[in-house]
Amino acid sequence: MPALVLLGAQWGDEGKGKATDLLGGSVDYVVRYQGGNNAGHTVVVGDQKYALHLLPSGILTPECTPVIGNGVVIDPSVLFSELNGLNERGVDTSKLLISGNAHVITPYNVTVDKVTERFLGKRKIGTTGRGIGPTYADKINRVGIRIQDLYDESILTQKVEAALDGKNQLLTKVFNRRAIEVGQVVEELLSYADRLKPYVADTVLILNQALEDDKVVLFEGGQGTLLDIDHGTYPFVTSSNPTAGGACTGAGVGPTKISRVIGILKAYTTRVGSGPFPTELFDEDGEALRRIGGERGVTTGRDRRCGWFDAVIARYATRVNGLTDFFLTKLDVLTGWEQIPVCVAYEIDGKRVEELPYSQTDFHHAKPIYETLPGWSEDITKAKSFSDLPKNAQDYVKALEEMSGAPISAIGVGPGRDETIEINSFI
Ligand code: IMP
Repeated sequence: MPALVLLGAQWGDEGKGKATDLLGGSVDYVVRYQGGNNAGHTVVVGDQKYALHLLPSGILTPECTPVIGNGVVIDPSVLFSELNGLNERGVDTSKLLISGNAHVITPYNVTVDKVTERFLGKRKIGTTGRGIGPTYADKINRVGIRIQDLYDESILTQKVEAALDGKNQLLTKVFNRRAIEVGQVVEELLSYADRLKPYVADTVLILNQALEDDKVVLFEGGQGTLLDIDHGTYPFVTSSNPTAGGACTGAGVGPTKISRVIGILKAYTTRVGSGPFPTELFDEDGEALRRIGGERGVTTGRDRRCGWFDAVIARYATRVNGLTDFFLTKLDVLTGWEQIPVCVAYEIDGKRVEELPYSQTDFHHAKPIYETLPGWSEDITKAKSFSDLPKNAQDYVKALEEMSGAPISAIGVGPGRDETIEINSFI
């Protein structure tokens, strides 16, 4: 029963799409377990580039069953447009399964996300504005709408009423907006029900049975470890658990079933939105990483903040996720630098600190302590094995592995499906 979790080891956008896709052929189920259409995976297949937000990347592999688990929040209109886009390009999406327990991002959740951010002004989180936080807040407040509610109009109406009760007070009295009508929301949500119906299933039962039958199940995290609501740089985080434990709760699979946890690690660091980022660069190097790495959000189109590799964060990701392996991505982006600084520890209030501080105040004050590694200028995009890499690139990878606390089992050397060096097989 190989059950693998694949997740971002930094602040998201590590190139998970490529990693999941690499495993695609040998995987029977690919499961999203948290987040929603705030995520963005780019998958390159041949000369085709696909940007996925909500759908698991397994949707591009015909033999694979893509699953949206109970821990995901779904905006049905976004789901349909993503499905339409794929269908127009000839991708068969009929195998998709959606948990009836997944929560629905309602139009009022999107409104609340946007007005709250505007209200926060300089203190804003920099959310994607997709209604993710307010939908999870409703879930925790027990006023959320689940996919299964779309099949019982009376229950749905009662739930929308309960959810809008307080929100309309807030919208009209605090945010100076018009109240949202219950009837209109119910009508919109019901209009999604028929098209969703063929996909809705008891995904928990199906996945556990699949594991009993020795099928390969891949749990695909959205965002990244440092954006985790519990283990990330709170409050500058998303509202779910991308860390490994989230795969269990977000898909209904026990921790004893998980056999491998793979962290996707970019060869440098990026972050979108607000919040601390010790190795962030504000100079030409940062600009070059952004340009060469194409560091622009798939979902929001925002420029990503860029910086050098941070081994403190990688070690932290190894610890909180129990990582068994790393997939190092975008090594080719670093080609051409004579020297590459790597953050090995922080200086906080004059003291050297080796591990991520639990205190937010300390983390805000953390200054990176760098070690500089020699760079390489050779094109590495055609490298097929580790020994094909120039010596300095090999040493860079080995140094990162040693600092990060788990073996690097694959290396991305270009965006294409075949531009990957596999060192240890994941399955
Ligand atoms: P939210 O998930 O839209 O609530 O946004 C919360 C924070 O997470 C913001 O800083 C976003 O930029 C960030 N975020 C959300 N999804 C992603 C992602 O897929 N990659 C990187 N950052 C993300």
